[in-house]
Amino acid sequence: MPIRVGVARETVAGERRVALVPETVARLIKQGFEVLVEPGSGTASYCLDQAYAEAGGRLVADRAALYRDAEVVVKVQAPTPEEVAQYRRGQMLISYLQPHRNDEMIRHLRDQGVTSFAMELVPRITRAQSMDALSSQGTVSGYKAALIAADLCPQFFPMLTTAAGTIRPAKVLVLGAGVAGLQAIATARRLGAVVEAYDVRRAAREQVESLGAKFLQVELDAEAEGGYARELTAEEKEREQVLLRRAICQSDVVITTAQIPGRTAPQLIAAATVESMKPGAVIVDLAAESGGNCAVTRPGEKFEHHGVTVYGPLNVPSMLPVHASAMYSKNIQNFMGLLQGEGGVLHIDWADEILAASAVTHDGAIRHAATRERIEGGAK
Ligand SMILES: NC(=O)c1ccc[n+]([C@@H]2O[C@H](COP(=O)([O-])OP(=O)(O)OC[C@H]3O[C@@H](n4cnc5c(N)ncnc54)[C@H](O)[C@@H]3O)[C@@H](O)[C@H]2O)c1
Repeated sequence: MPIRVGVARETVAGERRVALVPETVARLIKQGFEVLVEPGSGTASYCLDQAYAEAGGRLVADRAALYRDAEVVVKVQAPTPEEVAQYRRGQMLISYLQPHRNDEMIRHLRDQGVTSFAMELVPRITRAQSMDALSSQGTVSGYKAALIAADLCPQFFPMLTTAAGTIRPAKVLVLGAGVAGLQAIATARRLGAVVEAYDVRRAAREQVESLGAKFLQVELDAEAEGGYARELTAEEKEREQVLLRRAICQSDVVITTAQIPGRTAPQLIAAATVESMKPGAVIVDLAAESGGNCAVTRPGEKFEHHGVTVYGPLNVPSMLPVHASAMYSKNIQNFMGLLQGEGGVLHIDWADEILAASAVTHDGAIRHAATRERIEGGAK
């Protein structure tokens, strides 16, 4: 019996992505899976039911039928309590789960006996690159952030030499040069802006410079385990603030992308700094979802603060649903490959570090250590 994978329609307001696009459905079927699709799953990302059917997917009658027949449910957004209530004991869920802030939902998944894997917990190792949804969706966010900034900016990004005068290029500053930051740099450069960037990880310098941007140097290196950033000391934060303040005040656009995994985002732009920026300047704060890098950011809102446009957009990947879905879908397809045992049946090899690291609940227990400690106080 092939593994039956079910594509569920997203129910969170504003979510336009889908976990599997028809092209990937066809590939999974070639790999020996059977794919069930809840009608309307891909409509918001322009993947029509008919395209799923043509790809070999089986359209089920409704959500209840999907949850009844699928062994593995794939999703983008963490499930709502109503969805979890429909899961069967032993059913598998692969999705973003945000385990650090979804205690109630994790308890539900545990108590329902669901085996859940969180896409954001896939380790950042070479073998898992093709399953790395944080990177694929970060790429989308960075690209879109640069476009949003260009749109909000009251001036051109490129240098122009015209009969009506010469236009100087916009100065764009990108704070945080991880996956999203690097894509924002590349996109702003393609639009012709002069770009500077900053990150606490010294390793980011080479990548920033290879994109034709200037790296702002602060004498510190805060690279921690797994290539992520650690939190700065008070003295380091002070030095960072002085350097950044000067660069921010000279910029026409600031795009912020700085994150520390599992914590609130570091604050890099104080309210007073916003108030000293050029009139008409723009801040796009991609960290809005985790507290924001700018002190005045209001998640999801676009407003003016002392003549500066501040916008902290939420769920940016969903603004580009076609490619965000296509990339996420590839991540899911590659992850599914890890679950296909001999004879094509569902098999979890717990010795596989990717599966071990990304599992949140299994067989009535919370497997992810940090989540278990938080929810169950360290009890096994
Ligand atoms: N498979 C792989 O090997 C793989 C895949 C993707 C990313 N990575 C690496 O993982 C790391 C994190 O990538 P990400 O984009 O998910 O990061 P992220 O979203 O966690 O953070 C974005 C950036 O913010 C930076 N940052 C944190 N605090 C800051 C501060 N106070 N000031 C300025 N910048 C600050 C981080 O260093 C990071 O570059 C990077 O080193 C990246 O190259 C590895």
